Amino acid sequence: MNRSSTSWSHPAYGQIARLVTDASGVAFSDGYAETAEMFIDKAVKDAGARGLGVYLEALRQDSDMLSDLVSALSVGETYFFRDTAQWALIEKQVLPALLARRGTVRLWSAACATGEEAYSLAITAHRLGGLGRSAILGTDVNHSRLEAARQGSYRPWSFRGEQPRNLETYFDGGPGGRRALIPEIRDAVEFRYLNLLDPGIPGPGTVSAGQDLILCRNVFIYFQRETIASVATALIRCLSPDGWLITGASDPRLTDLVECTPVLTPMGLAYRRPNVCGARSPPMSVPPQPMIVSVAAPAAALPSPVGPDPVEPDAVEPDAVEEARPASAPSTADQICARARELADQGQTSAGMALLDDGLTRHGGSSELHYLRSVVLAEQGQHRAAVDAARSALYVDRSMIMAHIAEGTGFHRIGEPARAARCFRNAHRLLADIEPDDAVPYSNGLSTSRVRRAVEANLSSMPEPA
Ligand SMILES: C[S@@+](CC[C@H](N)C(=O)[O-])C[C@H]1O[C@@H](n2cnc3c(N)ncnc32)[C@H](O)[C@@H]1O
Repeated sequence: MNRSSTSWSHPAYGQIARLVTDASGVAFSDGYAETAEMFIDKAVKDAGARGLGVYLEALRQDSDMLSDLVSALSVGETYFFRDTAQWALIEKQVLPALLARRGTVRLWSAACATGEEAYSLAITAHRLGGLGRSAILGTDVNHSRLEAARQGSYRPWSFRGEQPRNLETYFDGGPGGRRALIPEIRDAVEFRYLNLLDPGIPGPGTVSAGQDLILCRNVFIYFQRETIASVATALIRCLSPDGWLITGASDPRLTDLVECTPVLTPMGLAYRRPNVCGARSPPMSVPPQPMIVSVAAPAAALPSPVGPDPVEPDAVEPDAVEEARPASAPSTADQICARARELADQGQTSAGMALLDDGLTRHGGSSELHYLRSVVLAEQGQHRAAVDAARSALYVDRSMIMAHIAEGTGFHRIGEPARAARCFRNAHRLLADIEPDDAVPYSNGLSTSRVRRAVEANLSSMPEPA
């Protein structure tokens, strides 16, 4: 992401964003500027500051305030056993080999968000009979996410991908459908604040060298190239001689940025220290990428003005992951979108959702996958989550008209008409650039004039800009 080209509506936003980038590495694309400004405005209000300039000055003096803003602006999306192919590799190859070779293994979930990834490591170690010999660490820059991680109690949404069999044996039921980790797993993970930009890594007060497995997934996508290079260099230095670094499927390749030994596995690249003797692909007995079959989203339906819907279910139906597998599993983003649309058209929204979630672990940069996810979530009545998914689409592609509409519809349904109106106005502006008879991208062939009429109908019932 190139912050220098980001267009902010006021230079103070840019200066504030710069402080966040310098503090955390999280950078802002042009497409995310408007959303970031909204979060900054909220932070200004929460801090009781009188204007952006005052807030900017306060941020420069107060590291806690800056840390709160970093938290507000960073994405904490995660769930248990995210990316089943990677977990197959960890459970069948990486961890058994480490456990066979060492008395104690050191496992680190770097940028662990609310802890699902770190606990997935603990559960995997337990399944292999090695939990007692595993020192497991989860770190993040977001204090409130770390606190949630320590609690170890999760909503069904944290289990939205394909999950291992018998996972329920690791949880007790809790209020509101929550699942609380059994103490044996919860107590096996230590959670600690750590900024990956800390120049002391590895070292005292940060994290020590000798880590056998580092998961640093779905965080590099938010960093600029030079930040990725310096953080990845530190992570490689943290590895034990036969340790592994695994990044997310959508994260950039590290081989051009740092000195490391790439290992091609069936789930993609993993990394080891440079010149590791015998570093090679694990045997191909690792099952090929397990494809969850799932749901898709109809992209055609246009929103009609509706009142706020207070019912917002917590999670998708658990049946999602058990749907039948297709004869040939879709693997490219386009194939996944097509299959997801098909499933949604057949009313199989849970299956479509699982397909999209799984697809996003490999194609996080696909705006269409994020957008379809938003549509399915809206169909499931999860309007707040639908707004978030639409924003993820816009984060990738600011010009995606249908995602602006999906975001606006979500805001409308959760009773935020001013925000809804802003989204519809964005869509309206973008529609002006398309010929009336042309189809609006991702609308399943709806013409510009038709979509414009629908947008105008929505706007007519919404507040004018202040
Ligand atoms: C999308 S989550 C990834 C969670 C998990 N690793 C996964 O893949 O499911 C990204 C996390 O990175 C954290 N993060 C962002 N910048 C960071 C930094 N400089 N140091 C440590 N964590 C950071 C955020 O707070 C957020 O919780």
